[in-house]
Amino acid sequence: MENISIKLPSLKDAKKRTRKPINIYRDLYELSESLKKLGENKKYYLRTYGCQANERDSETIVGILDEMSFTKTDDYNEADLLIFNTCAIRENAVNKVFGEIGQLKRLKVKNPEVVFAVCGCMVQEEITIERIMNTYKQVDIVFGTHNIHRLPQLLENFINTKERTIEVFSIEGDVIENLPVKRFNKYKAWVNIMYGCDKFCTYCIVPYTRGKQRSRLMKDILDEVKELKEQGYKEITLLGQNVNSYGLDLGMEDGFATLLEEVAKINIERIRFATSHPRDFSLRMVDVIKDNKNIMPYLHLPVQSGNNEILRLMGRGYTVERFKMIYDKLKEAIPNIAFSTDMIVGFPNETREQFEDTLKLVDYCKFDFAFIFIYSPRAGTPAAKFIDNIDLKEKSERLQELNERVAKYGNLNNQKYLNKVVKVLVDGKSKRNDEVYSGYSEENKLVNFTGKNIKEGDIVEVLITEIKSWSMNGEKIN
Ligand code: SAH
Ligand code: SF4
Ligand code: F3S
Repeated sequence: MENISIKLPSLKDAKKRTRKPINIYRDLYELSESLKKLGENKKYYLRTYGCQANERDSETIVGILDEMSFTKTDDYNEADLLIFNTCAIRENAVNKVFGEIGQLKRLKVKNPEVVFAVCGCMVQEEITIERIMNTYKQVDIVFGTHNIHRLPQLLENFINTKERTIEVFSIEGDVIENLPVKRFNKYKAWVNIMYGCDKFCTYCIVPYTRGKQRSRLMKDILDEVKELKEQGYKEITLLGQNVNSYGLDLGMEDGFATLLEEVAKINIERIRFATSHPRDFSLRMVDVIKDNKNIMPYLHLPVQSGNNEILRLMGRGYTVERFKMIYDKLKEAIPNIAFSTDMIVGFPNETREQFEDTLKLVDYCKFDFAFIFIYSPRAGTPAAKFIDNIDLKEKSERLQELNERVAKYGNLNNQKYLNKVVKVLVDGKSKRNDEVYSGYSEENKLVNFTGKNIKEGDIVEVLITEIKSWSMNGEKIN
């Protein structure tokens, strides 16, 4: 057995971007015969916080645990291994995780043999590791976003030595192709197309927790999509922090539009992608979305603010005018396209007038949905040095006002579906009512509906009979 020393993260190292080529590994993950049996008669409990990148990582973690013979439990009281895959995007996300780690301390008191591991974006920050080392002694294993493939070895190390095992790399990162995956959904799949982010928006911790932008080779992505199609998947979502910069690091020009066209040819029923960035959004995308019926008419395009000065301070690299231009072109070419966005209120020094520019942008774009966040300073980012000078009451009021404005358009947009037929990919029965099914329309609208002969994974036609702000009700027609 190798001797694993404690390897701690450094935000300073995580910030570095060199010209070193990206390594693609196809044999980095390996399991010895003894590791394949390590989880026999043992149960794991996994909790995932944060974005789709983390969800997809959790599918890899479960793939690894499966190969190690662990079985899953949804009841943490009976787990032998607990894993928390964490998110660092805002202060409240971090506090939630620490609260829940604190609560589970009692499990260790009850059964000292329980192994507790924490991974994900939060542990890429020194401050988290310090807090874990000083206060959260119940945590046994810590691994980062760059070394999920090392989970088996880290587990073995802890079980054999009973010594706290912390291994977090602050590196630009590699692409590791041979990791197993256990997908959580049988009909909808996430497909990573790139890792990391080089945008360094001034408020954001992601470029530090996830490393340099690394695109997967187009062939590897297409092979994965083909395999999913063969397995019966109906919908895939291409994942990356900025899908529009796909391929830049491989020397491709307009790589994402090209990739989308190639993926569309595989003929999987539904293709989605997240997240788009207005800066690198090429106008060829408008035609690609319009010309391929299996690319869904829905775009999540985070704007963050409707004011140019705030956008500049955020380092976003586009203006409100550019954002509106992209929006106009898409709406013109694809009239039924639905839009969602992300916005931040209370960025340092944001004046009431600047905030009102964001309200005006919402009036212009009439988003179908928006995720709105109160600005949260993240240690180590440039914006954390600005004085966070807007009081929480004002921030909360702006949040509420913007939410109300977005809800108004959410409802108005949905009105146009009344008495119309939409195509819904069935997710399953609704949690609240056994007779009601739910799923998403092509425009990513949540639809609850009734009808006969309905199966999970089917794409059915539903007549919309009732509209709500964030969902619609209807009846299956065929
Ligand atoms: N890569 C995506 C977003 C990833 S993070 C993009 O660039 O659009 C998801 C959202 O969290 C961001 O769009 C932003 O609105 C929000 N966010 C990120 N950092 C934040 C912070 N420090 N405070 C508040 N919201 C933040
Ligand atoms: Fe964060 Fe900006 Fe990168 Fe999105 S593009 S992950 S907001 S740094
Ligand atoms: Fe959170 Fe990391 Fe995603 S910080 S939002 S889990 S990339």
